[in-house]
Amino acid sequence: MPAAALLELIDIRKSFGAIEALRGVTLSVFPGEVVALLGDNGAGKSTLVKIVAGEQRQSSGRVVYDGIERHFTSPGDAKAVGIETVYQDLSLCTNLDVVANFFMGRELTRRVLGLPVLRDREMEAETARALAAGGTQIPSLRTKVEHLSGGQRQAIELNRFVHWGGKLVILDEPFAALGVEQTRRGLETVDRVRARGIGVILITHVMAQAFAVADRIVVMRQGAIAGDLRTGETSPDEVVHLITGGIERIGAAPRNEQVQPEKGANT
Ligand SMILES: Nc1ncnc2c1ncn2[C@@H]1O[C@H](COP(=O)(O)OP(=O)(O)O)[C@@H](O)[C@H]1O
Ligand SMILES: [Mg+2]
Repeated sequence: MPAAALLELIDIRKSFGAIEALRGVTLSVFPGEVVALLGDNGAGKSTLVKIVAGEQRQSSGRVVYDGIERHFTSPGDAKAVGIETVYQDLSLCTNLDVVANFFMGRELTRRVLGLPVLRDREMEAETARALAAGGTQIPSLRTKVEHLSGGQRQAIELNRFVHWGGKLVILDEPFAALGVEQTRRGLETVDRVRARGIGVILITHVMAQAFAVADRIVVMRQGAIAGDLRTGETSPDEVVHLITGGIERIGAAPRNEQVQPEKGANT
């Protein structure tokens, strides 16, 4: 039995006035699966993930997460059940150190003479363990985040997400501002996140990134799914065709549903 889908989007539509940004999108994401979402500008990628993350509301269609239909009205609603969009930088406080950022809003305290005092050493040790588990090395956890690279900041955000029980993470062009080496490490981090059973939706324009890390490649065009393919069963050429509208190939049928030639038909 295959695992149950973590996320099921069923016939999602979204209009902005006369613009139909999404025209009936149906898509599943499984635990421990990286789904790369590709498509030209305006294809509807960001609108789709904003609906998943509670930043926007669909015009119609259903969002089922962990087997339950959801009606998120804010990003906080989605976050509360383990869905988050990781935007490089935006959720970190650059004037605070790594530990403070890791524990933002979840600080460990003890009472001294009735006053709350931070349990700093424990927080630092827990941050170190969490980053090590995610394969991320930051030389000093007491460094203010403003002194860290974009890649390090992203790794901190992703590891923080996993550590606090996140289940589905959305990455919208996460490596756009990073160099080659940082991007390579970023992809490794995504790989480790997947290995921990997290579902990942990765929006990227870079075909090589999709092929390097994704289990499935989903192509959107003009608000609809133009192709939903296993990475190992497609090619950059085919994906380019799907993005530009050269060919249609909707749905990756499970192997046992593919049409087999009838045995003995010629005898
Ligand atoms: N807030 C909005 N108001 C009006 N139109 C929007 C809004 N957000 C997106 N759109 C339109 O919806 C379509 C899909 O946009 P978007 O989801 O950002 O595509 P992508 O992320 O694939 O580039 C585009 O035509 C875009 O102009
Ligand atoms: Mg976008």
